[in-house]
Amino acid sequence: MKTRFNFTNRDIVSIKGFTREEIDYILEIAAAFEPLAEKGSDMLKGKVLAELFFEPSTRTRLSFETAMYKLGGNVIGFAEPGVSSVKKGETLADTVRVVENYSDVIVMRHPLEGAARFAAEYAHVPVINGGSGAEEHPTQALLDLYTILKAKGRIDGLNIALMGDLRYGRTVHSLAYALSLYDVKLNMVSPELLRMRTEVLEDIKTRIDVTEHRDVEDILPELDVLYVTRIQKERFPDLGEYEKVRGTYKVDLDLLRNAKDDLVVLHPLPRVDEIAVEVDSTPFAKYFEQTRNGVIVRMALLALVLGAIKE
Ligand code: NCD
Repeated sequence: MKTRFNFTNRDIVSIKGFTREEIDYILEIAAAFEPLAEKGSDMLKGKVLAELFFEPSTRTRLSFETAMYKLGGNVIGFAEPGVSSVKKGETLADTVRVVENYSDVIVMRHPLEGAARFAAEYAHVPVINGGSGAEEHPTQALLDLYTILKAKGRIDGLNIALMGDLRYGRTVHSLAYALSLYDVKLNMVSPELLRMRTEVLEDIKTRIDVTEHRDVEDILPELDVLYVTRIQKERFPDLGEYEKVRGTYKVDLDLLRNAKDDLVVLHPLPRVDEIAVEVDSTPFAKYFEQTRNGVIVRMALLALVLGAIKE
């Protein structure tokens, strides 16, 4: 396979580091990797992925792990800092400088914004941001785009709503930046307290039309994609504020009666109560497919940054 871009050794810290052409290319490689997700490959034989997870994770950590194994590589790391020398007071800089000697690529999740960028500056191996506080989650955005593309056959021309915790949700920050590279109409739906960050809005409004809404009912009939998020309780500085917004939005069958037949409902998961379980068995629900697509997109990313796809 040939690459038109140079991804070898590249850090994936922010989705803002990518052009639309590069993102399209990653999605193309992912599509080409679909069969490998079934039959496996030894493309990354001898390579080691280190996972440094300073925050809880199910999908991001396990799908990166699966992606590495599917391509014949190996995985080391920790799923929580309590079992590492971080517990003894080791700094992030030192942890990274040690772990880069054991691995060819690092995936890190950290509660602090900027942590992934910081690690990338220290490490000589590529660093992939698996979630940096409330800031960004670039690989999630790529798998979200891949899922939209698979479900709708295109991204351009779609009417898309991001709904829920747009303030603390890192997935919607990365996804908004990524979608702003396409010709989409973007709607932000949230309670006042959880409105999309101004810095994100200001940036994406230079490229696409964005509207803000309190209630999804106002726009639901026109939507092609509804991306729902969990309220990020753990990021609220004041739990009283969380109590004010908790349970303020919910997607259920009653709401979806007014949706287009081919509306796609997405969610990065984990869900708490934002999407009723009754929606799971409808054709709208694509959030479990999203998790499968996560493995494929992460296989493509690992192969790209490890230089397994040569020019
Ligand atoms: C998200 C995260 O960690 O930001 N989960 C994920 O990676 N799929 C979303 C969330 O925690 O709500």
